[in-house]
Amino acid sequence: MELRLSGRTAVVTGASRGIGLATTRTLIEEGVRVVGAARTVTAELKDSGAIAVSADLSTPDGAQRFIERALSELEGIDLLVNNVGGGDSYAAGGFLSVDDATWKRAFDVNFYSAVWASKAALPSLVERKGAIINVSSVVAHAPSAGTMDYAVPKAALTAWSKALAEEFGPQGVRVNTISPGPVRTAFWDVMAGAYGSDPAELLSQLPAMAGMLTGKVIEPEEVATLIAFLASDHARSIVGADQLIDAGAIKTL
Ligand SMILES: NC(=O)c1ccc[n+]([C@@H]2O[C@H](COP(=O)([O-])OP(=O)(O)OC[C@H]3O[C@@H](n4cnc5c(N)ncnc54)[C@H](OP(=O)(O)O)[C@@H]3O)[C@@H](O)[C@H]2O)c1
Repeated sequence: MELRLSGRTAVVTGASRGIGLATTRTLIEEGVRVVGAARTVTAELKDSGAIAVSADLSTPDGAQRFIERALSELEGIDLLVNNVGGGDSYAAGGFLSVDDATWKRAFDVNFYSAVWASKAALPSLVERKGAIINVSSVVAHAPSAGTMDYAVPKAALTAWSKALAEEFGPQGVRVNTISPGPVRTAFWDVMAGAYGSDPAELLSQLPAMAGMLTGKVIEPEEVATLIAFLASDHARSIVGADQLIDAGAIKTL
């Protein structure tokens, strides 16, 4: 299938590694011009062919300035992939261990980063009838005590995406969410740190722990392919949707 994305422009947040880097590479392979941001510009991001920008997207100013820079580089945005997320800590000690600063940081990285970037990019997205893809998580469907400071902002992201789709769909902007299950990225180093386990061992246990029916952790490239499809005109009727990519981990309808 030809995705016919060639010549389009995209902005990918959290592009230095993991899902964001795989998405950047996939879009570039499809002929898309990409501006990618992270706090650290890695050699991999530089080598991807993207215009690499260092930005902290967990602040309103950082997100706004990054989108302004992307607009000046690309002269218009067809696709915004709000991929930044994760965090520095998880509620391993339970609810009473999560202080206000931790909640704020979790919401800034996992929810507001997308809100701020989208706000700045929407005038251009409306003009070009573009698309927003927000990277949420299966935990938005199945919050648990041990990851609540991550799951709750992700649930907010999924809910906000649905509402944004209703407002901007009639103006030609498609907004969708994807909700991956466990993907092989550095994200799990942080999670392993919070629980005092070894990252490689945790990754090997994840398929069984999460009920993944393939028995395999998801690769970032699989998620990138889904994002590229959702960005294409083949997905023109997919609006306000939340697409799971979880190897069957979520058992409910
Ligand atoms: N891996 C999984 O199993 C999984 C499952 C479901 C959903 N997700 C979601 O998928 C998305 C990507 O995660 P990943 O697994 O690819 O994680 P990752 O490998 O840790 O990548 C996270 C990316 O975000 C960037 N980033 C983090 N904080 C930032 C900030 N304040 N400003 C700008 N960039 C920032 C990181 O670069 P810097 O640190 O240099 O800034 C990096 O490029 C996240 O939203 C995550 O919640 C992941």
